[in-house]
Amino acid sequence: MEEVFGVFGDPVEHSLSPVMHNAAISALGMKARYHAFRVSREGLGDALLGACAMGFGGVNLTIPLKERALELGFLEPDALSRGIGAVNTVDFKDGIRGFNTDGVGALRALEDACGSIRGKRVVLLGAGGAARAIAFQFASVGARVLIVNRTEERGRRLAESVSSVGGAVEAFGFASLGELLDSAHVLVNATSVGMHPLVNRTIVTGDMLHPGLVVFDIVYNPLKTRLLLEAEAAGARIVTGEMMLVYQGAEAFRIWTGVMPPVDVMKRAVLDALGV
Ligand code: ATR
Repeated sequence: MEEVFGVFGDPVEHSLSPVMHNAAISALGMKARYHAFRVSREGLGDALLGACAMGFGGVNLTIPLKERALELGFLEPDALSRGIGAVNTVDFKDGIRGFNTDGVGALRALEDACGSIRGKRVVLLGAGGAARAIAFQFASVGARVLIVNRTEERGRRLAESVSSVGGAVEAFGFASLGELLDSAHVLVNATSVGMHPLVNRTIVTGDMLHPGLVVFDIVYNPLKTRLLLEAEAAGARIVTGEMMLVYQGAEAFRIWTGVMPPVDVMKRAVLDALGV
């Protein structure tokens, strides 16, 4: 029988996860299919129990369900997803267990380009869901994470929650950005600034960047955001956002199946779907 995987969310029709996972499933010759399911916040509990009862191979969660999953008494989150406060991957093999692979996705995308970030100074723009996953993950591998968020208080709260599990994390306001960037090794944009349709926006401009810096933007629509174009012009190395999406999916796939899927095939499927 064909095994079923999927992504639950609302809205979910524009998710790139089905094309990406189905490309991996085809490449591996598996008898399986990955679908998108529209599931509301109120319906998440029933949907997960139903998926478990029907023998689904696993599901991803997207907006607005990642945080909601932690409110369900029957779901067992691992330590990382509990710390982040969001679950993006659910596995049904041994109970109903929650994981968060967004941070691993970002870490692999970045380390592909620049090697280990242990001991590196990483300026992280943002303190929302994506930034939380990145802050916890990067701190867990020994990076020095410097959070800069428009709402300073939100950045401080994130720094405190990562510090409480032993990470080297501090929070700052936008006024400190220039100084922080001068001595940084990596800049990560984990805000939505620069995303289609407001493609002309950027928090950091080229004059604040230096050639030794690696600049990673998690926005993948467009692939080359204004931040990355300015970084390139300033001589910095750039990392585009699609590989975070690919690697978070690949890690979810590995949790469900024990098999590391072909990331090059998944990347091609994502780029084709984006028309790149
Ligand atoms: P996500 O889950 O995608 O990370 P989110 O939780 O809404 O989304 O977080 C969005 C992040 O982008 C936040 O860090 C937000 O800053 P605030 O905490 O100050 O709201 C940041 N952000 C969004 N629009 C921004 C803008 N125009 N300028 C600066 N930061 C912005």
